Amino acid sequence: MKLWLALAGLLPFIENALAVNYCDPQNSFCFTGIQKFGLTDPQNSAATFDLSIGAAYPTDTTSTEFIGEIVATRNVVWAGYDFGGAMSNNLMLLVWTNGNNFVSSTRMASGYVPPSLYAGPIITQLPSSMMNATHWKFVYRCQNCTQWSYRPSGASTPTTVTMSTTSQVQSYGICLNSTSACVATPSSPTSSIQQHSYFDLWGQDVTGGRTSAYSSYLSGTVTSISVTVPITSTRTSTTTSVTPTTSGTGYDYIVVGGGAGGIIAADRLSEAGKKVLLLERGGPSTKETGGTREVPTWARSTGLTRFDIPGLFENMFAGSNPWWWCSDMTVLGGCLIGGGTVINGMLYFPPPNMEFAANLGWPSEWRDPTAAVTKLFARLPSRTPPSPDGKYYLDQVYTVLSTHFSKNNYSEVVINDDRDRKDGVYGHPAYNFNNGIRSGVTHTYLQTAKARSNFRLLMYTYAYNVVRNGPTITGVRTNNTIDLPNGIANLTPKGRVILSGGVYGTARMLFTSGIGPADMLSQVSKSSVANLLPPSSQYIDLPVGYYVSDNPSINFVFTHPSVDAYDNWQSIWSNPRTADANQYVASQTGVFASSSHHFVSWKAITGADKVTRYLQGMARPGGYASGFGSYNASATFSLTFYLSLGVTSRGRIGINSDLRGVPLVQPWFQDTNDKTAMISGITQALANISTNVPGIQMITPPSGTSIQSYVDNYSKASMGSNHWVGSTRIGANSSTAVVDTNCKVFNTDNLFILDAGIIPSQPMSNTHAAVMTIAEMGVTRILALAGGP
Ligand SMILES: Cc1cc2nc3c(=O)[nH]c(=O)nc-3n(C[C@H](O)[C@H](O)[C@H](O)COP(=O)(O)OP(=O)(O)OC[C@H]3O[C@@H](n4cnc5c(N)ncnc54)[C@H](O)[C@@H]3O)c2cc1C
Ligand SMILES: *[C@@H]1O[C@H](CO)[C@@H](O)[C@H](O)[C@H]1NC(C)=O
Ligand SMILES: *[C@@H]1O[C@H](CO)[C@@H](O)[C@H](O)[C@H]1NC(C)=O
Ligand SMILES: *[C@@H]1O[C@H](CO)[C@@H](O)[C@H](O)[C@H]1NC(C)=O
Ligand SMILES: *[C@@H]1O[C@H](CO)[C@@H](O)[C@H](O)[C@H]1NC(C)=O
Ligand SMILES: *[C@@H]1O[C@H](CO)[C@@H](O)[C@H](O)[C@H]1NC(C)=O
Ligand SMILES: *[C@@H]1O[C@H](CO)[C@@H](O)[C@H](O)[C@H]1NC(C)=O
Ligand SMILES: *[C@@H]1O[C@H](CO)[C@@H](O)[C@H](O)[C@H]1NC(C)=O
Ligand SMILES: *[C@@H]1O[C@H](CO)[C@@H](O)[C@H](O)[C@H]1NC(C)=O
Ligand SMILES: *[C@@H]1O[C@H](CO)[C@@H](O)[C@H](O)[C@H]1NC(C)=O
Repeated sequence: MKLWLALAGLLPFIENALAVNYCDPQNSFCFTGIQKFGLTDPQNSAATFDLSIGAAYPTDTTSTEFIGEIVATRNVVWAGYDFGGAMSNNLMLLVWTNGNNFVSSTRMASGYVPPSLYAGPIITQLPSSMMNATHWKFVYRCQNCTQWSYRPSGASTPTTVTMSTTSQVQSYGICLNSTSACVATPSSPTSSIQQHSYFDLWGQDVTGGRTSAYSSYLSGTVTSISVTVPITSTRTSTTTSVTPTTSGTGYDYIVVGGGAGGIIAADRLSEAGKKVLLLERGGPSTKETGGTREVPTWARSTGLTRFDIPGLFENMFAGSNPWWWCSDMTVLGGCLIGGGTVINGMLYFPPPNMEFAANLGWPSEWRDPTAAVTKLFARLPSRTPPSPDGKYYLDQVYTVLSTHFSKNNYSEVVINDDRDRKDGVYGHPAYNFNNGIRSGVTHTYLQTAKARSNFRLLMYTYAYNVVRNGPTITGVRTNNTIDLPNGIANLTPKGRVILSGGVYGTARMLFTSGIGPADMLSQVSKSSVANLLPPSSQYIDLPVGYYVSDNPSINFVFTHPSVDAYDNWQSIWSNPRTADANQYVASQTGVFASSSHHFVSWKAITGADKVTRYLQGMARPGGYASGFGSYNASATFSLTFYLSLGVTSRGRIGINSDLRGVPLVQPWFQDTNDKTAMISGITQALANISTNVPGIQMITPPSGTSIQSYVDNYSKASMGSNHWVGSTRIGANSSTAVVDTNCKVFNTDNLFILDAGIIPSQPMSNTHAAVMTIAEMGVTRILALAGGP
């Protein structure tokens, strides 16, 4: 085995680098660590690099975790942070980028040899991680990271090392791109790596890095997570509030969650004359909803926010203080009015009839979505092209791929003209914009609901759980003690609650209501809201969180001389191209009237297991290469493939001990037939691309990598698509489903769910049109169901 440079072993423990305390102006986190700017690359005196490594520690000195941040120039291919100083026998974290994603890996070296994988620590990427043209920044939580062990050679028992709680020698190593391929397989956390090109040691001031703001760093910088807040005022009221109120203060329907499903439900119920309360944990989003935060300087005269301007979509992931993401789950979700519909890419494709098949889990009453789609499109039509002047902008990616796909037996269609036609088609994506501005449920259904006197919306109202007496729900318990007595919203005697908190949000509310599998209820019973659980005799055991699905997605990056990568969308917020910004401000047309995707395709693939699965392709200008060779960064585009309708793999989601929503079993490629189908579909979709499109160059994966090995080695951490469904799926049997044909939670009298969670199988397309369609279908059934208000 090749020996590595003997790092600290050759050196006494001199604290070479000067430790500093500093705050990151973008996420406002304060750290202790090192900050280096403009250091010279030892192998290439013409090149320089920046590197900052910081950590923040909780005030509890017995805690075994910390929050860290590594910022580096993009020529730093991997950075290693060694928690113990000397290279051998200490725990280290390695981080590199793979396309737009980060890959991290905890390792330990037994000597001056490449470090091996080390299991035990839990690394969670935090939302303020970002990349731009010049730098990458990995912000993470490191749990179980202050103690590690190794077995000295010949010893029979391991030696345990504990990090100092006051001052600890630490070190870093980095690999610069001037050396050679630093990471063999960037998509894989287990990849072998090239030796570091530079390292240094310093004395970490752990005491100085302790902060009482620690939990607010974890929960996002604006609001703290309410579930961790002691809720003494509602605790005393839990026993008295179980009797339904007979006064005029109750609601016929309480809908929890103002996203795609919840807003449609609340509007249709209030339209039917019911007294409706809609609860949303977040605040305003778009201008139409009263949003005034997040107006870019260049669009100030319009008052339009990042949630309104379609072209700012890519910047959703790069904001300096991204308060709009839900802070209490480890996957992305929007926690503000509109939910996922105000932070998403607005790709809008109504579900085909075949999506509602029996073998995909839909009960027979749900076979035909036509009426619901018609109602939805009457309120919220789709737009192709997105720019109201009827022109396509920044369309080179479409032109390039059109050349290829048309030669590859795909037909060009206007996608939403025939929602059932999804085999061998491509076209321009359809969106739900209106006049060049994000439209959606917040601009349509919410506005009509708000105009009715029997509708009430309470924002900034976090629902803990439902108040129930066995199977009978009497109200919803919230943190809003200002507008609701003791924070409790009560139902009228025949009233009903509809949970629309999304796949993760609804599952959490069920768990905290004593509904779900025993292991999840046990997490709640050990948490700060244990006192809100009903007595265990009233627990309802249902498979909440099981059977989830999300599309596996695989990303390819190309260049073509005709393509304008649009600076990889890096400068759109603070320094957009002047002509495009001016055009948008003047007339809401042009590049900024569309989100980033400009091409979509579908194709059916029938696998060896006889299952037909669909492969969706989506392309946009821009993208980061994960390879090394040189390429024209101004001409990149990304083509992402999703496996959609027919995908058979299932995972499981739930909550961890601090009630944070987490995937417990990742859903992607659990069934190898999914992977096989995806590889064959991609191989067919990309066949002959270089002969079909002269000048095209695939840069990720790098040349010489087969599609098979690229997919085989693709990191699960990069495979998600934010299209979660199935956590509370519909079905006939409470052992395998959570809601019945009428969306009523099994074994309850009056608790319903209307959100992505009830969808039993992955839809054909990006999920939000499917969620809105099933909300229309479901609310019709709920209104028709006997026994209600
Ligand atoms: C980054 C990203 C990009 C996406 N891009 C697209 C796209 O381009 N096209 C597409 O079709 N789909 C897209 N999606 C998916 C789509 O947005 C979702 O499938 C859809 O919004 C799900 O609807 P929902 O009603 O289930 O939940 P959501 O829309 O997530 O709404 C849930 C709401 O409930 C609220 N809530 C949750 N818990 C509580 C509580 N305890 N108390 C009070 N309120 C609560 C939340 O704040 C939120 O407003 C994207 C998703 C993400 C995350
Ligand atoms: C290495 O990084 C520098 C600085 O980011 C960049 O200019 C250069 O093109 C990179 N070289 C390679 C081979 O990627
Ligand atoms: C913490 O990490 C150690 C290895 O350092 C591992 O043995 C242990 O199981 C981990 N503990 C938890 C709770 O994950
Ligand atoms: C890129 O990111 C780095 C690190 O967050 C930041 O310092 C720098 O200002 C950013 N550059 C641009 C052009 O936004
Ligand atoms: C690729 O090109 C070859 C040679 O022209 C042709 O035989 C083959 O059918 C093409 N494949 C596809 C999928 O178009
Ligand atoms: C072309 O596509 C159609 C529909 O997807 C399919 O039936 C046909 O077999 C395909 N032909 C070839 C040569 O791939
Ligand atoms: C309730 O929780 C929401 C969401 O976390 C928060 O914005 C609001 O301030 C909280 N309200 C109270 C009274 O604590
Ligand atoms: C790189 O791409 C841009 C944008 O497509 C183009 O204008 C430029 O000429 C290309 N440069 C080279 C060296 O090919
Ligand atoms: C990548 O995939 C190929 C098979 O396609 C396999 O032989 C190889 O070992 C994989 N590499 C890694 C690092 O997992
Ligand atoms: C529900 O499924 C279980 C397990 O498969 C089965 O034993 C039971 O009979 C089913 N119940 C109904 C009503 O179909």
